[in-house]
Amino acid sequence: MATKPWSGVFDRATDRRVEKFSESVRFDQRLYAHDIRGSIAHAHMLSKVGILTDDERHLIVTGLEEIGRQIASGDFLFRQELEDVHMNIERALIDRVGDVGRKLHTGRSRNDQVSTDLRLWVRDEIDTISARLESLQRAFLGRADQDAGALLPGYTHLQRAQPVLAIHYWLAYCEKLERDRQRLADCRLRVNQLPLGAAALAGTSIPIDRQMVADELEFDGILANSLDASSDRDFVVEFASCLATIATHLSGWAEEWILWSTTEFGFLRLPQEFCTGSSIMPQKINPDVLELIRGRSGRVVGNLMSLLVLVKGLPLAYNRDLQEDKERLFDSVDTVSACLELAAPLVAGAALNRERIAARLEEGYLDATTLMEHLIQLGVPQRSAHEIIGKLVASAMKRGVPLASLPLEELRAAHPALDETVYEVLGVERAVAAFSSYGSTNPHQVAHQLELWRQRLS
Ligand code: ARG
Repeated sequence: MATKPWSGVFDRATDRRVEKFSESVRFDQRLYAHDIRGSIAHAHMLSKVGILTDDERHLIVTGLEEIGRQIASGDFLFRQELEDVHMNIERALIDRVGDVGRKLHTGRSRNDQVSTDLRLWVRDEIDTISARLESLQRAFLGRADQDAGALLPGYTHLQRAQPVLAIHYWLAYCEKLERDRQRLADCRLRVNQLPLGAAALAGTSIPIDRQMVADELEFDGILANSLDASSDRDFVVEFASCLATIATHLSGWAEEWILWSTTEFGFLRLPQEFCTGSSIMPQKINPDVLELIRGRSGRVVGNLMSLLVLVKGLPLAYNRDLQEDKERLFDSVDTVSACLELAAPLVAGAALNRERIAARLEEGYLDATTLMEHLIQLGVPQRSAHEIIGKLVASAMKRGVPLASLPLEELRAAHPALDETVYEVLGVERAVAAFSSYGSTNPHQVAHQLELWRQRLS
């Protein structure tokens, strides 16, 4: 059995059940590379301020590097009784280099160490997730050529509303994902602050050089209050919240594409390699990946809730509760990463069923609002125009015909200002062309935005 680093004051060994209950090495071994990187920077600093000789530093640093390689190669035995990744690595170092290894933990505590490791890890994951978000944006953008000119019904309340260019839909997702990336970049600013040197809670009397450690580890700044630095997990909550927003964006998109791939909608054919079949119904091609993306958003939102409740009501400074942050965080990162990894090829591989969409595009009076706006531009107040067009729609509905099929006399009878120019805005193609506002689905507007996106992602 391994002696604990705190064994001095204890005269009885830890109960096995406590070891099993309190260990975290099962999951925090994932931080090993960041733990080693942080320890190496700490050793460099200890040597600069005269705590370690050059020889001692060399032994410690090469020892840590060897341990890193050993863990990476899979032949390192993590021991539960050594609790966490930090103590496992430290003990391995002492076993390897002898007593000099016992100097490494000078001027630091696991409390600032774990926060440092986790910040380094989160920083890397932010960069990875951001790159995956960009790949998904590229997948949406990559559809532009094949879907050029395609129109879709736009919905509110899932009721047909106004016609929209397919590319306008794709760019809408590019915008959402861009904000997700901005949120991550902003979160990164607060993540990338060095806690190491806060020690247990109050700092240290050892003459450490925190700026040197921050520089080596590429932190943008140093946390200025040791109580705060060793205790807070707001950076974890913030990252988990960014991930939850990404997950809800993905979930909304997945829901939309699940609907669009139904026989009822028939807008979209999903790539077969991203679908699964039924064990009993031979004809089924099911959108399971999209459903799982939608479903997994539940865990990511749940993880955020768990983290918020975890930190709620914790007095300063470090409390062991904080160890519970990692599994929730890791799960959110893994889940969102996996969803993004599949979303990009799914977006790229789907095909719009352009004929089926076009065949029913004149249903649902998608041009009614444009006709109303035409009447407004002829001088009729909006409230009156709304009512007049509403009556025309009701009459067309009764006969089961589109607005463009109404005879001119009927339009004139509805309002004398209506003349043959109405036919310039009737029908989905014309209605789309009639939009003119910045950010609208007008083809020139969309082409302009597409160009901006292509530049941004080039
Ligand atoms: N495994 C612990 C964690 O993840 C490390 C810090 C333990 N500190 C302590 N004083 N027990 O939070």
